[in-house]
Amino acid sequence: MSHDKIPSDQRDARVMQLYEELLEIEQRLIPTGLHVLGRPSLDSEKTDLLKMVASFDRPEFGARSLPHVVAESMGLSKQYAKENVDRVVTIAIRKLIEEGIDAASDFLLRECGVNRQSVDGMLRLLSNISVSLNTNNEIDSVVRALRGEFIEPGPGADIVQNPAILPTGRNTHAINPYGVPSDVAFARAESVANSLLERYLNEHGRYPQAMGLVLWGLDNIKTQGEGVAQALWLLGVRPVRDGLNRTTNVSAIPLQELNRPRIDVVMTISGIFRDLFSPTVQLLDKAVRLVAGLDEPTEVNFVRKHVFEQVENEGCQLDDAATRVFSNAPGNYGTNVNFMVMDSQWDKEDTLGDLFVTRKCFAYGRDSLGRSIEGVEARQAMDKALSRVEATYQNIDTFEIGLTDVDHYFEYLGGISKAVEKRAKARPAIFLSDSLSPELRIRSLEETVRLETRVKTLNPKWYEGMLKHGFRGVAEIENHVSNTFGWSATADAVDDWIYSEVANTFVFDDEMLERLRNLNPHSAHSLVRRLLEANGRGYWDAEQSSLDKLREISRSLEDQLEGV
Ligand code: BEZ
Ligand code: MG
Repeated sequence: MSHDKIPSDQRDARVMQLYEELLEIEQRLIPTGLHVLGRPSLDSEKTDLLKMVASFDRPEFGARSLPHVVAESMGLSKQYAKENVDRVVTIAIRKLIEEGIDAASDFLLRECGVNRQSVDGMLRLLSNISVSLNTNNEIDSVVRALRGEFIEPGPGADIVQNPAILPTGRNTHAINPYGVPSDVAFARAESVANSLLERYLNEHGRYPQAMGLVLWGLDNIKTQGEGVAQALWLLGVRPVRDGLNRTTNVSAIPLQELNRPRIDVVMTISGIFRDLFSPTVQLLDKAVRLVAGLDEPTEVNFVRKHVFEQVENEGCQLDDAATRVFSNAPGNYGTNVNFMVMDSQWDKEDTLGDLFVTRKCFAYGRDSLGRSIEGVEARQAMDKALSRVEATYQNIDTFEIGLTDVDHYFEYLGGISKAVEKRAKARPAIFLSDSLSPELRIRSLEETVRLETRVKTLNPKWYEGMLKHGFRGVAEIENHVSNTFGWSATADAVDDWIYSEVANTFVFDDEMLERLRNLNPHSAHSLVRRLLEANGRGYWDAEQSSLDKLREISRSLEDQLEGV
């Protein structure tokens, strides 16, 4: 928000917008501390988790969203009811955990006249989850696995997405790739694809002609293929099942129905996705080739436009011009962009994007004669495809792991964005969505980094939870700072204030610095060095006095580590 004087007629709207942003930060689910194998959840953690489960409609369990039912009974307009609804839902869930379904249901009736019938399905579901969270076989299963004994299988997902993953401590199994994308995933992906394109349209006055997507294996297991479905929607095709109910084909959604152009998509898939979803890799490649072959005007079919332009201008084969699915060489995984950033072993940011392409420029799919392409090096094809990209995107599928929790988001989404920047000679718009919010949100990368920083790295609830784990907890805080730095290196997406506040919170607060250096001087030292590196590389415009202080603290930590 700018600091200019706001016209009075806009003031209320701006205050409301600020209020909504604060609520978003406050209500975001975050992990507090690390998981300890075999330890059941605390009641406070359980309340937060059950609230999140309760916020979605769950037709498969005959359950409606609890906040919706409560808001309806209160008869308040959605905006003003939020806080009140949240309070009632929180108390109801606490009662459910402590005293059972009847107590929760009685409370809801007394407090806001919600009848039992309308919440019965949800309360039963929450009660089952609550009970399953009290027990787990994690330690026992690990020990039995080490003895080489059989471990009972169970589905792999996020509790919020699929409560059937409980009890934990089972042998996680994946998914039938021929079932991907599921009908639910395909339905959910439509609004994500539309919102993504609408946001770009609002900001740029036209649709992006080409987008770069990141697809991961585990995410598509957990969501039954939401990422895959988003790619299909952008292309404007739907999955088609064969006589054995396997998704082996696609059909074009007519343009009149789609009501917008077909977007060209460059898909960079992880090694895990390539290994687990071989039929899906074929499906995605088939979708691109189908769209390229549609007899449609090129202003509304950007795949066809680009493929034919390339064939004409470069005299290359149609097959090569339509290559859009890229991954590592067979048997290889990852982009190594994260290792390069973490080790500070690079000079210019372009190197990071080039490394991404070097690692990911292997084509997968099938050529027009039906011959399988299994990881054929296609650097030129990838360079060309990326040179047209105007927006990059990745779907985040869980609250447990976000942008700054692991180095994988910046190695992939940051890596592809940096590669695009050099090849397209313009930084792409970078977007994320999270498929777990009850209300669909498309955010820019910068917005997501700010949100993650506020709800995690700089949030006392988060870092105090981490610090309870001593040595490992400090390492986690340092990881977050380094992963944040990764977003500067690959996408210049980190505001100055973020580094300033990290320094104020963890280094310039004497008491906090003392705690960190006692628990883990190695990570405390790395954190200080990383802040200095952020300044050195031009990502953080810091006061000279702050830098002097950081250098002095860095030296004293080095002395401590050397035992001086
Ligand atoms: C994947 O599931 O594809 C994945 C997991 C971790 C890092 C990168 C990709
Ligand atoms: Mg900056």
